[in-house]
Amino acid sequence: MAKARTQFLCGQCGAVHPKWMGKCPDCGAWDALEQFIEAKAAPGTLNLGDDAAAGITAPASAEPLGQVQAARVPRIPTGVQEFDRVLGGGFVPGSAVLLGGDPGIGKSTLLLQALASLADRGTNVLYASSEESSHQVRLRAERLDGSDAATRNAHLWVLSETNLARLLEQARRVQPTVLVVDSIQLVHRADVDAVPGSASQLRRCALDLVAFAKTSGCVVVIVGHVTKDGLLAGPRLLEHLVDVVLSFEGDRHHAHRGVRAIKNRFGSTFEVGLFEMTGTGLHQVDESTLAADPSLEPRPGSVAVPALAGSRCLLAEVQALTATGILGSAKRKASGLDANRLAMLLAVLEQHGGLRLADQDVYASAAGGVKLLEPGTDLAVALAVAAARTGRTAPAAFAAIGEVGLTGQIRPCSHLEQRMAAAARRGVRYLALPAGQIPAKVSGLKIELWPVDHLSAALEFLSPAGVGRVRKSISATKASPK
Ligand code: TYD
Ligand code: MG
Repeated sequence: MAKARTQFLCGQCGAVHPKWMGKCPDCGAWDALEQFIEAKAAPGTLNLGDDAAAGITAPASAEPLGQVQAARVPRIPTGVQEFDRVLGGGFVPGSAVLLGGDPGIGKSTLLLQALASLADRGTNVLYASSEESSHQVRLRAERLDGSDAATRNAHLWVLSETNLARLLEQARRVQPTVLVVDSIQLVHRADVDAVPGSASQLRRCALDLVAFAKTSGCVVVIVGHVTKDGLLAGPRLLEHLVDVVLSFEGDRHHAHRGVRAIKNRFGSTFEVGLFEMTGTGLHQVDESTLAADPSLEPRPGSVAVPALAGSRCLLAEVQALTATGILGSAKRKASGLDANRLAMLLAVLEQHGGLRLADQDVYASAAGGVKLLEPGTDLAVALAVAAARTGRTAPAAFAAIGEVGLTGQIRPCSHLEQRMAAAARRGVRYLALPAGQIPAKVSGLKIELWPVDHLSAALEFLSPAGVGRVRKSISATKASPK
């Protein structure tokens, strides 16, 4: 006969401890341990726990890797292309996906859109909301663009339920291809003596949902809010239970949002899905909407950069402004850029570029709400600040890439060919890039390359005379026999 055993579960990291402590020894979080009761198997029997409850009892036997059948992973594309891109082509049947993000960022909207798109194509899907009534879900669905309301309305099932047992019972009845549980924080099991959203409820409910996914082959998508509120355990607790963890990021007050994979057992975690929140739901954003326009009249303090976002490359714009500040306490503000990296670039500009910035307030931002955190954007940031400080402008149709080292040296950056192609496609004519990194395959691109090895040399690009000198020296190198 199984006996119950009292244990303590950490709401931050999910570690289980035999006794209560003020501080979790695993993650160091204070006051995070919470009591829960786990069924203990009788002596002499193997505790199959939730597996047994879920019916996963088929005996497994070890076999050599070579004999394992390598089946190709089938995919269920949702039809929301940016979402499919992050998933690696679509949902994998029987997988559990966790979508985390701040409240109000657009998780419910994104999932309802994905389900609506699946239902449009005749796939049975179930949207179980623990936060909203079915009526509210319908109102939301009506705001979203739809191609075929009749098919959608027949295949998109909606349920407003917080009790997990009843939710799963409905899921077994409807037999959906995809089940969305929005959100896990309000779902509860009646036999667990804890409030919804507590660590033990979250863990038990998530385990049941994952077991349901594995046994039924249905894709289960679990929504989790990330909150700073101590009462609600964050979805980090659930991350190791599921196959895919997605994070919805962005500023609630800015239209552009990104979905990225933090963990994906069936694909890469490299891709980013780009969305924009509009009056009719989330719209997919392609690179061209975010791109800087190099054909515009150049402005002081603005430099374009072909930056990487996942496997794509977008032409972003870095803007900088300097204003007289107080020596010793000048402000440095970065938006969409790494503030520490900006401080480093300012020091390099002072030391190796001959610019006086100590008494200047410096503001630098990535235009359009994009985040430029990769080192390949260093040169563009440095040039934008230098241009703002000196009141000069970069040439028209100009972009810059390269990492700036502490010695002022311009260092190579990754994916150069892809960045060059993207820049050329968007109308960049002149590209400053690290000297010694010019790839072999440049023919066919209508783009003039200006290799540069040091920051002081790159500052030449900010004056017409300097540009003239650079172009002359490039044509001289080309003309001279090797
Ligand atoms: P929501 O998807 O409910 O966020 P989450 O589930 O992550 O908490 O929606 C977020 C916000 O988006 C909400 O404040 C209203 C807004 N919104 C729009 O601007 N347009 C729309 O078409 C929809 C459905 C929502
Ligand atoms: Mg929601």
